[in-house]
Amino acid sequence: MGRKPLIAGNWKMNTDAVSAPNLAREVLQKTSRLRNVDIAVFPPFPLIPSVLKVLDGSAIGIGGQDISAELQGAFTGEVSAGMMTSLGCTYTLVGHSERREYHLESDELVNRKTIRALEAGLIPIVCVGEKLSERDGGETFARVERQIKVGLAGLSKEQMARVVIAYEPVWAIGTGRTATPQQAEEVHEFIRKLLATLFDQQIADATRILYGGSVKASNARELMSQPDVDGALVGGASLSSDDFAAIAESAG
Ligand code: 13P
Repeated sequence: MGRKPLIAGNWKMNTDAVSAPNLAREVLQKTSRLRNVDIAVFPPFPLIPSVLKVLDGSAIGIGGQDISAELQGAFTGEVSAGMMTSLGCTYTLVGHSERREYHLESDELVNRKTIRALEAGLIPIVCVGEKLSERDGGETFARVERQIKVGLAGLSKEQMARVVIAYEPVWAIGTGRTATPQQAEEVHEFIRKLLATLFDQQIADATRILYGGSVKASNARELMSQPDVDGALVGGASLSSDDFAAIAESAG
């Protein structure tokens, strides 16, 4: 389909003023010869400027792990999409399951954040995925369908052409329990078909759908060999430059 894979490293609430630029420098060194894969890192907000400095002029994209749904103003503790673009960020995660779970983010809020990101010129990586109880209850497809339908509601085709989706089954995040390539593929294929009905076939074919959840150097190649898996959103393994570079290598 000609979709260039994207390998995204979500550092979550890890690293500090010293280790964040160091990790970025190592990732840059170890991935600089890879041409057929896009790479992006998502440091914690206060560390983004130091990482931007290290990656300035490189092909590695940088994004925040979340953004506010509001434009600006009296929203203590929030970070706006405009702030991120003004720094030089390209991406933002939206609707990560940890935001949904610990900050009670609804599909409707995820939709507002997605639109806010697009309006500010950021590429949103919209995260979806079912909990273990939902999978066990046979609700995986219904849950993901609602997350996609509501999360992407109101987007024009032009806007959708800039969106990346990440399928992250909650039961696979940080648990070491990766979805099998078949489990990942069936949901990715479902999402792509849904995008074709919500937008059109061309957009569905062009949209990158990443898999996330215990992606490691040892399982990345098989996951990404699936026809509808276009890259990875990596948590734990993105904190090791060797592991992250090996995952990127298996995509490129
Ligand atoms: P792990 O790779 O640590 O399972 O985390 C996945 C994730 O949540 C990436 O956003």
